[in-house]
Amino acid sequence: MLNPFDIVIFGGGGDLALRKLLPAMYRAYQEGNLPEGSRILPTVREESKKQEYIETAQQALKSFLGEGEFNNRDWKAFSQYLVPVVINVTEPDGHWDELRVILQQDAEDKSRVFYLSLPPAVYGTCCEILSKKKLITATSRVVVEKPIGYCGESAEEINGKIAQYFAEEQIFRIDHYLGKETVQNLMALRFSNALFENLWDAKSIDNIQISISETVGLESRAGFYDKAGALRDMVQNHLLQLLCLVAMESPHKLNANSIRAEKLKVLEALRPLVDEQVDNNIVRGQYVPGELSGKLVPGYLEELGEGSSKTETYVAIRAHIDNWRWAGVPFYLRTGKRMKKRCAEIVVEYKPVSHNVYDESVGPIQPNRLVIRLQPEETIQLTLMSKRMDNLNMELQPVTLNIELSEQYGSSFHSDAYKRLMLDAAANNPALFIHRDEVRQAWQWIDPIIERWQSKGTPALYRAGSWGPEDADELLQENNHTWFNVG
Ligand code: BG6
Repeated sequence: MLNPFDIVIFGGGGDLALRKLLPAMYRAYQEGNLPEGSRILPTVREESKKQEYIETAQQALKSFLGEGEFNNRDWKAFSQYLVPVVINVTEPDGHWDELRVILQQDAEDKSRVFYLSLPPAVYGTCCEILSKKKLITATSRVVVEKPIGYCGESAEEINGKIAQYFAEEQIFRIDHYLGKETVQNLMALRFSNALFENLWDAKSIDNIQISISETVGLESRAGFYDKAGALRDMVQNHLLQLLCLVAMESPHKLNANSIRAEKLKVLEALRPLVDEQVDNNIVRGQYVPGELSGKLVPGYLEELGEGSSKTETYVAIRAHIDNWRWAGVPFYLRTGKRMKKRCAEIVVEYKPVSHNVYDESVGPIQPNRLVIRLQPEETIQLTLMSKRMDNLNMELQPVTLNIELSEQYGSSFHSDAYKRLMLDAAANNPALFIHRDEVRQAWQWIDPIIERWQSKGTPALYRAGSWGPEDADELLQENNHTWFNVG
C-alpha cells in the first residue's frame, strides 16, 4: 500500500480538476487506494470559491462519476481528504504562506505532488514561486499536462523553465492515454505472448492503423482548441505514444528508463514528413454540419462562432518507421472530432498467405486481422479464415475470435486513467509518464507539418457524423488499403 501523500491541484476549480481529477481520487478512495493521512489540496483564486468548494466538489462528483458510483457515505469520508486553499498561482504574494503552513504540518519526507492543472504558459512561474517559497522538498514531484507548448521551441522553453526547479526524475508529464488499462494491456499482449512476439514485423504485417475517433465537437474549449487543432491536441501526444507502444522493441526490463528509451527510438526512426511530403501523406479536415446519431449537429465554424478558421478537427497520416523491423510497413494514424462513432483502436493487418492452394470457387482468402479496441468496449478480435461448416463444398469464410476483456473482470474496478497516473505520481513511479526527450522528438516530427500547413492549403471538409474527408480514403487507396471502420 502506498504511503500517505499530499496532492496540490493548482487550478482546482477548473474543468479538468472537476471532471477528471476529483473523480479519480474519489475512486481511489472507494477502492481503498487513498491512504489515510493523505490530503487533496485544490487551489482556487478567491476566498468565496474556497468556502463553496466542498459543495462544488460534491456537485462535480455527482455529475461526472458513472451511474451508481456516488454515495453519501463514501462522499462524507472522501470530503475529509479535501483541503481547499486560496492561491493566485502567478502572484508571489497570493496567499502562498497558507499553503506552506498546511504542507508543513506534516513530515518533511511526506510525498508531495504538485499537479499543474493550468495553462502551460504559467507552468514556469508557478514552479518558480514554489521554489522561492521553499515548498519543493526532496520527495516533491510536479505533474504537467499535455500539450506542452505549441511547437518544439515553446515546449523546450517550458520544459527548460520547469527543469530549473525540478530534476527530470521529479517531473511527471502526463498523457492520460498511457494510464488507460487497455493501453497498458498492449504491452502485456506484445511482451507476454510468443504468438505476437514472433509475428510482429514487416515479414508478417502488411499495415497498421491506429485510430482515435470521437463524436464530441468543440465542447466548451474554443479558446484552446482553435489555437491547437487535432495535430497538437491528439497526434503529438496520444497517437504518437500509441504508435510507440505498438512499434517499439521489447524493453529489457519493465522500468521507466528502459520503456522510455525504446519509445524514443521509435520517434527517432519516424521518417520525417516535410514540404510536399506533408501534402502527399497527410490529410487534414474540418467538420461541417451533419447528422450524428439521428441529430443534426452544427459544423466547426458554427460552434466556434467565427466566419473562418483553418484549424483542423481531423488528421490522417501515412507514416513510416525506418528501421529493420518495420521497413516498408505503412502506419496509418487517424483522429477526428464529430466522427460517426467514438472508438479508439489498433488494427493490425497481416500479409496474405504466401501461396494460395485453393481455386477461385472457394472464395477469396482474406488476410488475418488483429483488432485491439481500447474504447468504448475493451476487446481483442482476431479474424481467421475457416471452412464453412454448413455445406459439403469447400468454401472459405472469415471468422472472428472475440475476447471481451471487461466481461472477464468484476465491475467493482473502475478503469480510470487519471486515478492510475495520479497514484503513480504519488508513488514516484514514472514508467507511464513522458520523458523530456520524447516530447522534444515528437515535436521535431510535428513541427514541419505545422510549418507546411501555415503556408499552404486548407482543411478538407467532412460532414459531422461521417468517417472523415474522402481524401483520407484516397490516401489509403494509393496503397490498396482501406480504413477499418466500426459499424
Ligand atoms: C484530450 C484532448 O487529451 O483527450 C481532447 O485534449 C480529447 O480533445 C480527449 O477529447 C480524448 O480522451 P478520451 O480519453 O476521452 O479518449
